[in-house]
Amino acid sequence: ALPTVIVAIISYLLGSISFSIIFTKLFNKVDIRTMGSGNAGATNVLRSVGTKAAIFTFIFDFLKGAISVIIGKAVFGYFCDMADASLMIVQYGAYIAGMACVIGHIYPIYFGFKGGKGVLTSAAMIALIDWRVFIVVISIFIIVFLITRIVSLSSMLAAGSFPIATFLITYFLDYRSGSLSPEVTLTYVWVTSVIALIMALTIIYEHRSNIERIKNGTEKKLTINHKS
Ligand code: G3P
Repeated sequence: ALPTVIVAIISYLLGSISFSIIFTKLFNKVDIRTMGSGNAGATNVLRSVGTKAAIFTFIFDFLKGAISVIIGKAVFGYFCDMADASLMIVQYGAYIAGMACVIGHIYPIYFGFKGGKGVLTSAAMIALIDWRVFIVVISIFIIVFLITRIVSLSSMLAAGSFPIATFLITYFLDYRSGSLSPEVTLTYVWVTSVIALIMALTIIYEHRSNIERIKNGTEKKLTINHKS
């Protein structure tokens, strides 16, 4: 339990550092949450503020997800017996860290619990946990975006593919065929798939205002603010 608590707290505090709020305040003297979609995320910074703050937000929001996962893996690896420090245990640490970081991003303790929607930070988590799942999720995002140019729709469909890809890949490639990771158990398949499902539902729920706008036909395609 101790490694879980340590990893969850560190990752939550790291995830709570909302870089869109920090960089837009720093560079542009505005609160991103009062502009555009009101969301504290890279998309809204690009749309409502400018490319400089958007690029910084993109890099740092991604990095905090990645760093959380690295910390999660390291702490779980350290606390488990060496004999025990199997791929699965280390991966559990990564999932707990990633999830806590995304929760921090959505409900940041330093910014009145009003943050972003967790898309980029989740993408970083997935990239560091399983590159195969990442390829699926990022491909869905890119395809939907190229067709619709709507970031929120691309994010939601990519989020929806996360649990499906996690289940199919860990079940068929790891558990059944055992070709890549022979020690993967059925419990691991279920635990990781359920975590992915909870995260996907959370991300989609955070997009409820976007869903309304998509239904009304008022959701904006991605535009870039070139003024700053
Ligand atoms: O990353 C969040 C994105 O999916 C939607 O952002 O600003 O269009 O609500 P926004």
